[in-house]
Amino acid sequence: MPRRNFPFRFSPTGLRGLEPSATLLINERVNDLWRKGHWVYHLGFGESRFPVHPKIAQALRDNAHQHQYLPSLGVYELREKIASFYEKRFHISASPDSIIVGPGSKALIYALLLALDGELMLPTPSWVSYQPQAHLTGKRVNWIHSTPEEGWELKLSAVEDAVEEARRKWGNPGIVLLNSPNNPTGRMLPSTFIKAFAQYAREQELIVLSDEIYGLVEHGSVKHYSIARDYPEGSVVLGGLSKHLSLGGWRLGVAIFPSTRAGAQALEAVRSIASETWSASTAPVQFAALMAYGMDPDVWDYIQLCTHLHAIRTKYLWRNLTEMGIRAPQPEGAFYLFPDFGRWRRPLARLGIHTDAQLALFLLDEFQLATLPGSVFGAPASALALRLSSSYLDMETSEQAQTLVDAVLAGVSDATLLQEFHPNMNAAIKQFQRFIDSLESDATS
Ligand SMILES: Cc1ncc(COP(=O)(O)O)c(C=O)c1O
Repeated sequence: MPRRNFPFRFSPTGLRGLEPSATLLINERVNDLWRKGHWVYHLGFGESRFPVHPKIAQALRDNAHQHQYLPSLGVYELREKIASFYEKRFHISASPDSIIVGPGSKALIYALLLALDGELMLPTPSWVSYQPQAHLTGKRVNWIHSTPEEGWELKLSAVEDAVEEARRKWGNPGIVLLNSPNNPTGRMLPSTFIKAFAQYAREQELIVLSDEIYGLVEHGSVKHYSIARDYPEGSVVLGGLSKHLSLGGWRLGVAIFPSTRAGAQALEAVRSIASETWSASTAPVQFAALMAYGMDPDVWDYIQLCTHLHAIRTKYLWRNLTEMGIRAPQPEGAFYLFPDFGRWRRPLARLGIHTDAQLALFLLDEFQLATLPGSVFGAPASALALRLSSSYLDMETSEQAQTLVDAVLAGVSDATLLQEFHPNMNAAIKQFQRFIDSLESDATS
């Protein structure tokens, strides 16, 4: 009898224990429902969907003829532009010689985890890919705890506890991943936290990977503040074009290393990995990115317009859910909400729902609401938390996204935008209300 999977055999180091995520399960279910012609409110899809800015689209067309392999670090002129951009917009001093351009920040984070020694310290909750990437690179993950009662706030004391516990267990907690603005909570780390954290990280000789990909999608009272301002020698800043310019599919990310001898060595290690794997980022995209990072006033206005739309849509959803009694941290950046339904634990249990994954499937099957379970972000399944993305509804097609942009440019008020241009968002809110009403009536019956 042929062996199972003959003739394929799999490497135990990377794949063993790597589960297909609940994200896939939900997405498969959504696709299945769509194929059968059912309607789904897709709040599980975390992608910025505004149209490509015309000047950037033109720059790509103008560079279609660029077909050469480029240096693994990226085109030097682009790295110069990125350095100036980060100096101006993020107030960090970056040198073009300390920057690498890669096919998305995701690939750069992976290369960093491969290159660096030490276990990974991850706040709960954290973006879905960090933990699997740590797994694939053979790194142990130590979770830094936070609670829904405290709005999933990352506290320095929790970082200290997690580092100490890892050390007590003979671990080597060398790398901390910070992500602000945050996916999945929409929270941002205030400068007071960053300053205190920087001091601690320096004392403890921790490397900080600072995922600032949503840094320009900020819309609350907390201003984005990069840790590289206070801990430049120990931080690698990650960013790219995927979020504030909706260019996820163009695959262009950046990593900014410390301008120190150790920083140069770390960059060299990542460059070697790049040169042996993806070689370099796509040539026409790199040349078009000169326009994206070039401080063109029209492009800057567009970034702010898109951020404004993300802001009003995300806050509107948050306000409405909060008014139903659903607890979620107030969003300050990005386009996500992270509500938990612990308040309705009893009526949910009567429906056989004890975990967030069960809750997500129930909402999809019964209320056509597609969400992601908080446990794929490292939250306890019993916290009954879900991640909602505001980025998809009423921007299902590029034409709809363009209509919203045009409406803002024509001076349509925020209130009118939300009432008249967001039928699906408003319908999804009604579905949540029906769901909560059904739980409340069950609780009182
Ligand atoms: C927190 C976070 N970091 C990184 C990424 C990856 O971005 P990129 O398109 O640059 O690979 C994402 C994308 O969803 C994200 O949410």
